[in-house]
Amino acid sequence: MRVARRLRIRGKAGFAVLVALALTAAWGGLSLGLAEEAAKSKGALEKVFPSSNKCKRCHERVFEEWETSPLSRSIHSPVFRASLDEYLAFSGGKEKALCFRCHAPHVGEYPEQAQLFVAQVQSGDPAIDGVGCAQCHLIKQVDRTSHPPVPKYEAGKTLFGPYKDFVQNLAHQSQDLELFRKSDLCLNCHQSVPSAANLGKANDLLGGWESSKTAKSGKECQTCHMPEQVGESANGENKRKVANHTFPGRVGKLRQEAAKLDVETAVKGDQARVTVTVRSLVPHSLPTTHPAWARVVLDVTIKGKNLKTVFADQRVYGRVFADAKGQKTAFDFMATKVLEDTVLKPEETRVETFAFPTPKDTRSFDVEVSLSYAPVSGPPAFLQRIEAESSKGAQDPAFQPIAIVKRAVNVPLP
Ligand code: HEC
Ligand code: HEC
Ligand code: HEC
Ligand code: HEC
Ligand code: HEC
Repeated sequence: MRVARRLRIRGKAGFAVLVALALTAAWGGLSLGLAEEAAKSKGALEKVFPSSNKCKRCHERVFEEWETSPLSRSIHSPVFRASLDEYLAFSGGKEKALCFRCHAPHVGEYPEQAQLFVAQVQSGDPAIDGVGCAQCHLIKQVDRTSHPPVPKYEAGKTLFGPYKDFVQNLAHQSQDLELFRKSDLCLNCHQSVPSAANLGKANDLLGGWESSKTAKSGKECQTCHMPEQVGESANGENKRKVANHTFPGRVGKLRQEAAKLDVETAVKGDQARVTVTVRSLVPHSLPTTHPAWARVVLDVTIKGKNLKTVFADQRVYGRVFADAKGQKTAFDFMATKVLEDTVLKPEETRVETFAFPTPKDTRSFDVEVSLSYAPVSGPPAFLQRIEAESSKGAQDPAFQPIAIVKRAVNVPLP
């Protein structure tokens, strides 16, 4: 029973056999059409990792929050589709499961089914979940000794969660695990990417978050990214402390807590200078730099007479990678070297100065400073591919910057 062993099912034995049979049928049934085969395999997957839709019936609040989060679309975006294809072309079809290790982690339980996952993504409208409810709530343990850390799933009818005093229900058993209140659960996908293993220390996406003041004060990823609120954990149950499942990050109000921008100006005759102090309040790297094109940009604009822009400049926080041939690459799976690293380190303060000619014919000028996530970047063919893949074309959200924080000051002139 190769399948059953690979599935590492320690729960109900009968359950395992059922899954194994379904998988064997899908392979063995040479008379089955490809579509039918795929449907059968998909059905087998969903016996162990039920679709999030199944949880909606009783966990409507959580489901609706999760549905708006990037996690619910972890294998659906045109950018993911285009970059998966770049990866597959680069790897020559080897290690097809690699990207799914985090984007649809149940692939680890079905390595033989990697092509099914690829086909689901390439269809443009995957019917399987990427990071759905079960993909987190069936994790029993996270092994932090390997890099990236490895999750251990326990398939069965028991769902793991944060409550000791859970209410019984007819759909599943519950078990509390400390893991669900700990960063370890998240580090498993957020600490480093296996595809960039040859980058060594530079593959620490969070930049030594453990030594940040925040981590030392006992905060976990959940404190900020799954903030506590009061609500129904399951439909009709008493209100209690619950965790927000919208996973605020690039989306949501958390952004406003990312950094403080202080602006100082000095004018000496026809020369002016603006000093911007960027204080990152984020306890890990900003950006976390996966995918490799992730960048945060500081823009400074000076507006003089009639609010006309007289000067503009920027600083870019991110990494520049080189591939094995020494050429710059936008893909971390091709990267062998870091050429430049300007990522904001955990809780770092960075001072930037900008010099420009004092605006003329005006009694004051405006300084506008903003920090934002840059849009996707990369080779033209890759960007065209994203545009072609997206139902929104050039309007795809990936092409839009996302504002983080802004400051504006008016500077009177003598
Ligand atoms: C199974 C892998 C996996 C686990 C476990 C996981 N994440 Fe993620 N997370 C992802 C992936 C993949 C994305 C990107 C989804 C996308 O945008 O396509 C993501 C996105 C996010 C985002 C949005 C980032 C942004 O740019 O807006 C936040 C916030 C986040 N995760 C927080 C967490 C926290 C907190 C935990 C632990 C409770 C956690 N994640 C556990 C895989 C995971
Ligand atoms: C170790 C876990 C892990 C692996 C492996 C991984 N990713 Fe990701 N990926 C993430 C996380 C976490 C995020 C969200 C990061 C953030 O917002 O800072 C993400 C975000 C992304 C995004 C941006 C979000 C989106 O959907 O547009 C793309 C594209 C992406 N990954 C592509 C890939 C590709 C292609 C591979 C395989 C070569 C891959 N990833 C492998 C964890 C992983
Ligand atoms: C028939 C209704 C029902 C369905 C379907 C259901 N649940 Fe639950 N679930 C509950 C109830 C009721 C609780 C108890 C809530 C409480 O104690 O406040 C619960 C608790 C939980 C908990 C907390 C366990 C703990 O000890 O911390 C998690 C996690 C959970 N469910 C996940 C899921 C997931 C994932 C699915 C889909 C695969 C799902 N549930 C489907 C009713 C359901
Ligand atoms: C990225 C991992 C992840 C995903 C995906 C995820 N959860 Fe959770 N969930 C957690 C963590 C971590 C906690 C505990 C947070 C805490 O207490 O700080 C939690 C708590 C819960 C709880 C108890 C608290 C509450 O908010 O009600 C329920 C019920 C639950 N999840 C159900 C679900 C369901 C249903 C889905 C899918 C719609 C889902 N979860 C998706 C990680 C996840
Ligand atoms: C003190 C609050 C805090 C804690 C704790 C925290 N973060 Fe963040 N995180 C932020 C802020 C603020 C941002 C930047 C603004 C934003 O994207 O919302 C951010 C951004 C992110 C992003 C998106 C960044 C990008 O480059 O796309 C991810 C992913 C993320 N955090 C994951 C984590 C993980 C994993 C942990 C635990 C190891 C964690 N965070 C702990 C506050 C926190």
